[in-house]
Amino acid sequence: MNTPLRIGLLGLGQRGLQHLKALWLLQSEGLVKITTLADSFPVNLNDDKIKSFVPGYCQDNIKLTTSFEELIIENRPDVLYLAIPPNLHHGELIKAAQMGINLFVEKPMSLYLDEALKMEAAIKEACIYSAVGFQQRFEPRNEAVKEFLSDKRVVQANYTFHTHIEFHNVKHTPTETVGGPSNRIWTTSRAWTGTSAVENGIHTLDLWRYWLGDVVWVQANYVNRLPNEVIEGADNPHTYNIFFGFESGVIANMALSRLRRVYNSYLDHQILWNEGRLVLNQDKIVFYHYDGIYPPETLPDDSQICHSFNVTQVNDNLLDYSTLEISRNFLESIITQSPDSIRSPFSDAMNSLTAVIAANVSDSMDGARIYLKDLLTDKKYAPHREKKYS
Ligand SMILES: NC(=O)c1ccc[n+]([C@@H]2O[C@H](COP(=O)([O-])OP(=O)(O)OC[C@H]3O[C@@H](n4cnc5c(N)ncnc54)[C@H](O)[C@@H]3O)[C@@H](O)[C@H]2O)c1
Repeated sequence: MNTPLRIGLLGLGQRGLQHLKALWLLQSEGLVKITTLADSFPVNLNDDKIKSFVPGYCQDNIKLTTSFEELIIENRPDVLYLAIPPNLHHGELIKAAQMGINLFVEKPMSLYLDEALKMEAAIKEACIYSAVGFQQRFEPRNEAVKEFLSDKRVVQANYTFHTHIEFHNVKHTPTETVGGPSNRIWTTSRAWTGTSAVENGIHTLDLWRYWLGDVVWVQANYVNRLPNEVIEGADNPHTYNIFFGFESGVIANMALSRLRRVYNSYLDHQILWNEGRLVLNQDKIVFYHYDGIYPPETLPDDSQICHSFNVTQVNDNLLDYSTLEISRNFLESIITQSPDSIRSPFSDAMNSLTAVIAANVSDSMDGARIYLKDLLTDKKYAPHREKKYS
């Protein structure tokens, strides 16, 4: 496909603006031409508002519209970015796929497996290029971990992320006008997110898949909020304990919490292989492994077992960097017609989405083990696949 690729973007909220910032840089490199920005709420197309998020933004020659049809039919882009809340899809992705428009879709692609399966089928049938917004696969430290683990027999992964419910921010969708929370903090709402496992846990689960391969089964138990603990529609569970079973035999354990009045976050992320343990801290990665003559005559000291990990430093903000790189990778894959270099095509991302939705299903069945293959096809799970909110 010829450069510059013509780009349309649907949804100019938190994530859409981050994409626009990256696309603005790629436009200055001649890779793309941003042709249309669409949002169903005119306030989010306001020039000054966009400028405050995208340095150097200028609306000249860009069509602004609140109409999806105008975006895809009259302005027909080569690539469409979809960054709208996951419960608000109304066939946009499928229509664009049927027109042969390549698609960059934000995670989670839907909250409902039936809808996601239809999206996947439309993408396959149209033979278009697709990518899902798992930009953490492009962080240098996560690429280095992938390389480091590639020759090891990984046996366990552990991720604990405790944060406070007040950590969630006010979003750009005027949710109060479409049946959502009055404070616009939709990431605390189960109807809007699926749960925090689907909205946020999916990033870590997808990284595990990048390092360790596909998930086969899931078991989960949550502690749900009681009706009197729900404030302004914030009804996602207090806590989550989720086990993911991988095809490779690895078992991973994710513990999450979203409590009120804590105002503090805690993160611990460790990967264990048969002869060592990798600890991913915010600022550095260390691993514990004894590489000397075995067995040692005396117990090894810290200098013999504790090693740190060299990771290429990123000067920019890490989210800006990885958001730019995931787009660059996708767009260059289209231009050079190299679908295999896309790290998260839609069909690959289906395993990540199914796994986190399976966690919700498992919790609703008292922690039963859910095999993803069954969840996607078995009649008994049909009610768990259906679209429930419009
Ligand atoms: N990859 C990441 O790290 C990351 C980070 C944040 C959000 N996200 C994902 O991006 C998606 C969007 O989230 P957000 O944080 O930008 O939300 P947001 O509410 O801030 O923005 C959504 C935008 O879409 C617009 N919109 C809503 N419904 C629409 C419709 N039907 N048609 C057109 N426009 C519509 C809203 O007006 C708003 O401008 C979600 O799926 C979210 O999970 C991903």
